[in-house]
Amino acid sequence: MVQNIRLGVNIDHVATVRNARGGKYPDPTRAALLAERAGADGITAHLREDRRHIGDQDIASLMQELRIPLNFEMAPTLEMQEIALKHRPNAVCLVPEKREEVTTEGGLDVVKDEARLGDFIDPLKKSDCRISIFIAAEKKQIDAAFRVGAQVIELHTGAYCDLSYDGMVAERDIELNRLVEMARYASEIGLEVHAGHGLTYNTVKPIASIVELTELNIGHFLIGESIFCGMEKAIIQMQTLINEARNNIIVD
Ligand code: PXP
Repeated sequence: MVQNIRLGVNIDHVATVRNARGGKYPDPTRAALLAERAGADGITAHLREDRRHIGDQDIASLMQELRIPLNFEMAPTLEMQEIALKHRPNAVCLVPEKREEVTTEGGLDVVKDEARLGDFIDPLKKSDCRISIFIAAEKKQIDAAFRVGAQVIELHTGAYCDLSYDGMVAERDIELNRLVEMARYASEIGLEVHAGHGLTYNTVKPIASIVELTELNIGHFLIGESIFCGMEKAIIQMQTLINEARNNIIVD
């Protein structure tokens, strides 16, 4: 029997809509609680340096209200480390961050930052935060994530999703294969493997079929789809597709 995949719901874009007008509506914590009620296994929120969507108060309120785990996405900066140490979320997911990007564009270059990241991660681990690093599906990045002490890697599925939408079937399959092989490799060396970015109803099944994955983090599409059918239905439909993919895996 293949292990189920947890669904983490990223609620950043509820804050994007709120911040378009200023004020307090719609409230990301209210959305997170709805997601929790609908069966989400976790909530992800990314506190950016420029606070373009999630704000400091959102993190405080999510920590106070949620019963399911919070995956706190952040850049590896000292400011964010201090905030994480104050709140001690269940998990910290380290991501690269550029002010000019629309969304997280690539994985963190752990190889380049290796000398610093081990020391950066250490106090977070001592505070019982599980450390995940968002990386491209590359062996050298996985090895470096392991060496700096991450317990989890989250594989970036953005390229796979973009290629799917551009109809570039051969390139999409190469990317999918890379994700499959790197998930297996990471799991073999003892890392827990998650994935996310850009996933939709149309792209989730091949990713959810990767045996080693234990969690998917999905935001933009689920929040968008909630406009049309409500958050509960959107989450249930996504979970149905994920479970269908899991149930079809043949283990030999
Ligand atoms: N995982 C990580 C590390 C991310 O940075 C994001 C985007 O904030 C997601 C998952 C979710 O991506 P999307 O909003 O495209 O579903």
